[in-house]
Amino acid sequence: MRCAPGDLHDLAAEVLTDSPAHERQLFDLRLDRWFADLHDGLAAVFPAAAVGPLERRLIGTAARAFADRDPELKELDLRRTLDDAWICDPGMIGYATYADRFAGTLAGLGDRLDYLSELGVSYLHLMPLLEPRPGDSDGGYAVADYRRVRADLGDTGDLRALATALRGRGISLVLDLVLNHVAEEHAWAAAARAGDAHYQDYFRLYPDRAEPDAFERTLPEVFPDFAPGNFTWNAEMQRWVWTTFNAFQWDLNWANPDVLVEFAEIILFLANLGVEVVRLDAIAFLWKRLGTNCQNQPEVHALTQALRAVSRIACPALAFKAEAIVGPTDLVHYLGRGVHHGKVSDIAYHNSLMVQIWSMLAAQDVRLAAHALRAIPPIPASTTWVTYVRCHDDIGWAIDDADAAAVGLTGWGHRAFLSDYYSGSFPGSPARGLVFQENPATGDRRISGTAASLCGLDVALQAGPVPGRVGAGLVDAALARVLLGYAMVFGWGGIPVIWMGDELGLRNDPDWASEPGHEEDNRWAHRPRMPWDVAEERQDGATVAGRMFTALRHFATVRASLPYLDATVEAEIPELADPGILPVLRRHPVGVMLQLYNVTAGWRPWPGHLLHAHGLADGVDALSGTLVQIGLDGNLWLAPHASLWIVPRG
Ligand code: GLC
Repeated sequence: MRCAPGDLHDLAAEVLTDSPAHERQLFDLRLDRWFADLHDGLAAVFPAAAVGPLERRLIGTAARAFADRDPELKELDLRRTLDDAWICDPGMIGYATYADRFAGTLAGLGDRLDYLSELGVSYLHLMPLLEPRPGDSDGGYAVADYRRVRADLGDTGDLRALATALRGRGISLVLDLVLNHVAEEHAWAAAARAGDAHYQDYFRLYPDRAEPDAFERTLPEVFPDFAPGNFTWNAEMQRWVWTTFNAFQWDLNWANPDVLVEFAEIILFLANLGVEVVRLDAIAFLWKRLGTNCQNQPEVHALTQALRAVSRIACPALAFKAEAIVGPTDLVHYLGRGVHHGKVSDIAYHNSLMVQIWSMLAAQDVRLAAHALRAIPPIPASTTWVTYVRCHDDIGWAIDDADAAAVGLTGWGHRAFLSDYYSGSFPGSPARGLVFQENPATGDRRISGTAASLCGLDVALQAGPVPGRVGAGLVDAALARVLLGYAMVFGWGGIPVIWMGDELGLRNDPDWASEPGHEEDNRWAHRPRMPWDVAEERQDGATVAGRMFTALRHFATVRASLPYLDATVEAEIPELADPGILPVLRRHPVGVMLQLYNVTAGWRPWPGHLLHAHGLADGVDALSGTLVQIGLDGNLWLAPHASLWIVPRG
């Protein structure tokens, strides 16, 4: 271990003079433990001469945050250091929602915690709630002040109280940290506009089109529809401002060490309020390099490593979650590959699994998914995925051309099929998604929609209860598709996250465009307000809400009881026996678990000998609690859209 130099220990001792000896000792031990990560991360980004002074600034910040940290949070730090794979526990069940849309205010949310506990939630992602710019704020992703809570939701006192109440129930609070950009109303941007050179250096500003044009040659567009291009002219400064997302979201200049220090302070501020996971928003975009798409650059990982080392020293209970919605080969780097192994984010979104679930459901074929998912390299054992069916964003078809070609498809053709299918224009498709950000230049179309609407619930309910139960049959089929997707994300290993509304089978909000600022952004169709009257039906098995809620709660309960689902063990896709059935194998030291998912609308066979091969021929399906039944033809038959979680008989 490369220990920290003496001057950093002296600095810490100075800041912590009033702290008890055991705390000073703990801080020193952590400083030594994480120093190399900090130093190497900084040295990979900044000039050698800048590294030492930067270390002093960051360690000073860490020591001050540590001194201010609540005793209860310090105890959590110790617990988490004793169990650093807490995020891999099968008891982790996530839920994501907007505080205002769910419960009005943070205090109101505090009154709704029984609902979350009933569902089995242990991880709550509250969508952006720090002070945004007024008007359209990209759903809060244009932050004007990182140290204030959105006034209509409450204040930092309410946030702290909520975090404490959640922690009391074993629920970890997850908040967004928007670190690629700030709102143009943020004080840094305002100072830059006023001509302050110090703050101008926080941004990427250009006097003319020369550099922007050079960058644009290889830059994709994130919002080609409502924010084309990546630069915005600012008349006040007479400068082009780098704006990857909307014109009002100004990209930060992470090559400036001051930006790093600012964000280290913000992270520790949030951690000291009781936030247990920070979601590093749009992290792929932090570093810009000419001639590239300016995503996934190596410096992104070095910067994350430095920030994580600071937070591990001051508040090790805090986990980092990378929001990198990128291709599979780039994705695993966010959990640490090579020199960054185990040193960057602890959690990342499994975007590939999400996309492949929708692909399997539409194509009723698992071959592409099996190929693509097998190709994802293993991740460090202390890290894990957020697995999800859909989130607050649109779904982009991250289907790799080479993966598609390997199974006889074309990437372009399959992506076009998925857009057609999920927007309902493909003949016979029951899906009712909305096309988001159609890009005529690339032919790209992304999709918005709730899980239920993408699975055909609107069409099923419109069909009504006609003679012969056609309507009910369609509803059954739509819910079976949603539940198949959720069974996969609950079964994969990682933290399955339910996006608010899916647990009640909510469909797209027909009034999504009626709120000021939302007109252009149909992602609001799948960000509904919580209809508490519908939630009241959650115990009633005759309703869609009741069926969905009961099924997801059941998945959560079963999952928590299965050690095979501990995410320190990787999911594998074994040999396929039928193109309609996805097998997922989890070889845990306590035993083997085989999951089988029938993605088709017909009955499908799974050969009994493949169960024998894993010692599971007399296993139990943990989801239904029934014994596995191999038929006289030697096969296990799976009903349409069935999910089986087969474990050894106990
Ligand atoms: C992330 C968010 C998305 C937002 C973008 C810009 O991708 O999930 O909603 O538009 O960042 O901040």
